[in-house]
Amino acid sequence: MRKLIVLAVVLFTAIIASQISSCNSSTSDSKAGDTGDSVKKVVARGEYLANYVSGCIDCHSKRDFTKFSGPVVAGTEGSGGFIFDEKLGLPGALYAKNITPDKETGIGNWTDEEVLRALTHGINKKGDTLFPLMPYPNFNRIAKEDLLSIIAYIRTLKPVKNIIPDRRLMIPIGMAYPAGILQPSIDGNVRPPETDKVKYGEYLTRMGDCGTCHSPLTEHGPDRSRLFAGGYRFDLGTFKVVSANISPDSATGIGSWTEDQFIAKFRNNSADANVNRNPGAENSIMPWTLFGKMKDDDLKAIYAYLRSVKPHNNKIEKYPK
Ligand code: HEC
Ligand code: HEC
Repeated sequence: MRKLIVLAVVLFTAIIASQISSCNSSTSDSKAGDTGDSVKKVVARGEYLANYVSGCIDCHSKRDFTKFSGPVVAGTEGSGGFIFDEKLGLPGALYAKNITPDKETGIGNWTDEEVLRALTHGINKKGDTLFPLMPYPNFNRIAKEDLLSIIAYIRTLKPVKNIIPDRRLMIPIGMAYPAGILQPSIDGNVRPPETDKVKYGEYLTRMGDCGTCHSPLTEHGPDRSRLFAGGYRFDLGTFKVVSANISPDSATGIGSWTEDQFIAKFRNNSADANVNRNPGAENSIMPWTLFGKMKDDDLKAIYAYLRSVKPHNNKIEKYPK
């Protein structure tokens, strides 16, 4: 058991670290355009990012796994609910918190700075350290303007009164805190220009936390050199699923996929007809209903980035018998 715990901790810090390492230098871009943005535009950007790119709404809402890929239950957006526990390889049980503007049970009384600190450094308003399953090591590398737009948007969610239980961890949180990879200040973070597809794709991939689910957990911990090789097993009770190899290996990954096929996968898997059918045991934890609504250009950028990473030959059986 202890071994599993250590593995899980290493997983969430090592993978994130390896995803970060290659992404520091990008040129400054559209600052001038952004300063003139209206509040509406900022909230619209935040709505897009929080729902379809960065997974806030995915993790922080109730999901209905009687349908394919567990679409978010309407009315629960941001109110918490998803439980991450031992069945997902975690050292205990973590509860995605209520991040609606409810003053008592949500973040209604938090300042922007307080939310920002939770998002980028994993310290909440009370001063408690968050477990890095909440992807603050990733958000620590995201441009402040994007994070502020997300915060502006979550403040527009319907306030929901919902008390979330305290987490139950089997390790001291200090053991999991990835202090070494967090930048003290995020002021220098820039959003790469969208014309630089690979860099922008890497930025979106980091926001979407694709690397955490899509990397293998081996007996000796996560294989840092095998980012995107797939192989993470999820047990959600009613079904089990293994993450796919999305590295550019032609035989076992997405190396032979065209850009059109890549986009079609997201569109098909998020289409109502597909989501509403009974998936039985062939379900997925991948939030297709959300990621499937990413803009064409953003999926193209992610595709371009995934083509540029190291290919890994790793055959995955998504639904092992
Ligand atoms: C992979 C799932 C996941 C994603 C994606 C995610 N969160 Fe979280 N978040 C969590 C979990 C789990 C916790 C609680 C961690 C703990 O208890 O240690 C949390 C905690 C928080 C907290 C602290 C709340 C409190 O009361 O302490 C805030 C604020 C927050 N998340 C906002 C966000 C926002 C905004 C986004 C998107 C930019 C986001 N989260 C994305 C899982 C996630
Ligand atoms: C919560 C975990 C999780 C996250 C986050 C996640 N995925 Fe997945 N993904 C999976 C699982 C599990 C599968 C295999 C089952 C399926 O096809 O849905 C999968 C399948 C896929 C596939 C299909 C590959 C194939 O061979 O059919 C693609 C493409 C993909 N993911 C891309 C991404 C990208 C890009 C991101 C980030 C924007 C991402 N995933 C984020 C868990 C995740």
